[in-house]
Amino acid sequence: MNILLLGSGGREHAFAWKLSQSDLCDQLYIGPGNAGTAAHGTNVALNPNDFPAVKQFVVGHDIQMVVVGPEEPLVRGIYDYFQSDEALAGIQVVGPSAGGAQLEGSKAFAKAFMAEFDIPTAAYREFTAENKQEGLDYIAKQPTPIVLKADGLAAGKGVLILDNIAEAQAEFKAMLEGKFGAAGSTVVIEAFLSGIEFSVFVVTDGDHYKVLPVAKDYKRIGEGDTGLNTGGMGSVSPVPFVDEALLKKVEERIIKPTIQGIKQRNMTYQGFVFIGLIQVGNDPYVIEYNCRMGDPETEVVLPRLKSDLVALLAALSNGKLSQIDIQEDRRAASTIILVSGGYPEAYEKGKAIHGLEKITGSLVFHAGTRQDGDQVLTNGGRVLAVTSYGNDFQKALAVSKTNAEKINFEGKYYRKDIGFDL
Ligand code: AMP
Ligand code: GLY
Repeated sequence: MNILLLGSGGREHAFAWKLSQSDLCDQLYIGPGNAGTAAHGTNVALNPNDFPAVKQFVVGHDIQMVVVGPEEPLVRGIYDYFQSDEALAGIQVVGPSAGGAQLEGSKAFAKAFMAEFDIPTAAYREFTAENKQEGLDYIAKQPTPIVLKADGLAAGKGVLILDNIAEAQAEFKAMLEGKFGAAGSTVVIEAFLSGIEFSVFVVTDGDHYKVLPVAKDYKRIGEGDTGLNTGGMGSVSPVPFVDEALLKKVEERIIKPTIQGIKQRNMTYQGFVFIGLIQVGNDPYVIEYNCRMGDPETEVVLPRLKSDLVALLAALSNGKLSQIDIQEDRRAASTIILVSGGYPEAYEKGKAIHGLEKITGSLVFHAGTRQDGDQVLTNGGRVLAVTSYGNDFQKALAVSKTNAEKINFEGKYYRKDIGFDL
């Protein structure tokens, strides 16, 4: 079949790499893609949020499956757009309906969902401008640290963890006054959970589900998890502390009730559920849901998935998900993200990347790159993901580090301590 993959990051390069390996994949198009995705298919100048343009391309190129990488088109309703258009009937969109995508698009929705289906998560309350004073009084009575979350999509910046009540109250007011735009017109205030985080990825057709390899990402810019949050500086899979017993708790207490909730609420959902988890004591709690795969987790999860990805995704719409066998590579995989100097604050783009031809023994997924004639240029804060296999994540990382040293561009920075807390 012909497949259109939407997005342009490292996650999408990993998807393109994996989709193109399937015998079921004829033509693969990536809209808009990057310098790396072009090796696995044809990049097309499409904005994933411009649904009429996506429609025109899909109809004109006999596309049978659209794989949506990022959350924004899903939250904006690309699934529903396809469903409601006769010309697009029968074309599979991998991802939830807008209703299902609310699990990521609204933190208040996700918290109410978890409360309804008894899914363990931090205690919370939600407030708007209308009950602002109540919110301020509520904050005053909470222990610190306290977690404030803008309800809507805020490009990963809408979560604040504060150690001081007065500061939390000031930030709460700033959120209601538009610090994160409309995303902050509702604010979720939740209890701080102390523990170690990990990510579980589930594919579901809204009834059955399959669990993909477990991963853990590293979001802070600095070594030892210090400094500003980024889109992700590295990841590993599997995660040594996530043993059978913990995974069983995740499945029984979180995955099953989540799928049951999706079903009971009649949410149309044929895609990925990314469950951000934290282990507190010996028990898992949900930090967040996302309605798509994680980045940079995908850059280690898909390399460890031995099963055919196109067959797996096709099974979401043909009722055959329960027949799919998820086979995991026994090796560990680790990825290191090379970023532009200054990121996640201001950084420059357009720097020439050298040394890509010298890489052996790693997969290099492009995150923010652009082809300019024969030269690959940096085109984002996160530039490349260097993924390697090994008998354990440390061995995999050692290979990634060796290769990360062979790649050069002005301002290159990467964390050398991925997995330091495992
Ligand atoms: P989110 O966007 O909800 O994933 O939040 C971003 C990050 O904030 C998470 O990856 C956690 O590291 C942290 N975080 C969010 N909620 C909590 C919480 N209730 N307790 C502790 N840390 C949290
Ligand atoms: N790795 C976290 C995310 O994709 O949101």
